[in-house]
Amino acid sequence: MNVLLIGSGGREHALAWKIAASPLLGMFYAAPGNPGIAEHAECVSLDTEDHDAVVRFCREREIELVLIGPEAPLVTGLTDTLISAGIPVFGPTADAARLEGSKGFTKDLCARYGIPTAAYGRFADADRAKDYVRKVGAPIVVKADGLAAGKGVTIAMTEEEAYAAIDECFSGVFGSAGAEVVIEEFLQGEEASFFCLCDGKTALPFGTAQDHKRVGEGDVGPNTGGMGAYSPAPVMTEEMVARTMREIIEPTLNGMAEMGTPFVGVLYAGLMITENGPSLIEFNVRFGDPECQVLMPRLKDDLLALMKGAVDGQLAHMSARWRDEAALTVVLAANGYPGKPEKGSPIMGLDGAAFDNTQIFHAGTAINDGRIVANGGRVLNVTGLGETVTKARDAAYRAVDRIDWPGGFCRRDIGWRAITREAESV
Ligand code: AMP
Ligand code: GLY
Repeated sequence: MNVLLIGSGGREHALAWKIAASPLLGMFYAAPGNPGIAEHAECVSLDTEDHDAVVRFCREREIELVLIGPEAPLVTGLTDTLISAGIPVFGPTADAARLEGSKGFTKDLCARYGIPTAAYGRFADADRAKDYVRKVGAPIVVKADGLAAGKGVTIAMTEEEAYAAIDECFSGVFGSAGAEVVIEEFLQGEEASFFCLCDGKTALPFGTAQDHKRVGEGDVGPNTGGMGAYSPAPVMTEEMVARTMREIIEPTLNGMAEMGTPFVGVLYAGLMITENGPSLIEFNVRFGDPECQVLMPRLKDDLLALMKGAVDGQLAHMSARWRDEAALTVVLAANGYPGKPEKGSPIMGLDGAAFDNTQIFHAGTAINDGRIVANGGRVLNVTGLGETVTKARDAAYRAVDRIDWPGGFCRRDIGWRAITREAESV
């Protein structure tokens, strides 16, 4: 099977690494890819915003499956264009991608199908939004409706903070994503990421993870795309997975099919495990980054076969098996991230860094004069495997310590919650 993978992050390197092991794989291309992905696929400079150019490329190279990593091309309808051209694609249509592209859409879906989520209101003007805040009180959460690169959410501890977030949203800083605001109840509990492969009718549970969104140790400081993650998530017990499937995933999949917009691809539920059980914080319509970098090393089965199964509507007859080991990934970011990351600093020691139980995934790297240099905010992901999260962490940091990169930094406490629990249970 000839495959085109769209994307250039650590998530896509993890996918490429796993797909490269598939006996089904024929030619493998990535657009635009990165130096790590280039070890597995031919990286091509294709403007993926030009959907017709992607179709032309697929026809020329006889691509039999397109895999779309990031959300932006999904929300803008690359899947729709490819399907119209008869090219199979793993990833939702633009209508189905509204599960990530519009928080208001998802909240309305939850209300309609009785899916547990925070109580909310949707507003297109600031005064009515502020009235709602006055009525409910703080703490309260203010969200721009559309895609705002992870920056559109404010957890307001006071009403004044909530008013300021509402004004910011309507000031235009988020562009059209801020034309509407969703205001919701503040949920308390432990967060977890839950993944499913979907074929429109059937959802196959596809792993759990927890990530660290804040830049600073102890989970403080500004939000980032994610500074590290581990899998499985200890809070996602078998019972919690079963409840999440029954109360959240299955009603969503059925609802989407009923509305005529069946969901095919990865459905990623950001959950709050509250004292009443799982509550949906948000959906994403793709793998998490860096969660994918801990899922792929644990997956025993053929990813390409599973993705093809999803596209062909065959998931009811398929299963996914996982290694018993835990995986933990540490993100190495360029100095300045998440503000203005410094580009161009050389990264040394990569060749000697990986051991048997570790894997290094590239994100924002480039090759300059034959050397690997930083070329983005999040630059590398170092994943370790081990019998416990503690051992996976030790493996990951052993490799991190061999990387010589003065231009970058990482958090040293990834996995602390699970590791504290493991220490308490001995
Ligand atoms: P989102 O972009 O919707 O994932 O929100 C970013 C982060 O804000 C989430 O990962 C949570 O940590 C937090 N968050 C979002 N909504 C809520 C909520 N209703 N209650 C508590 N925390 C929330
Ligand atoms: N790690 C969070 C995300 O991918 O959205």
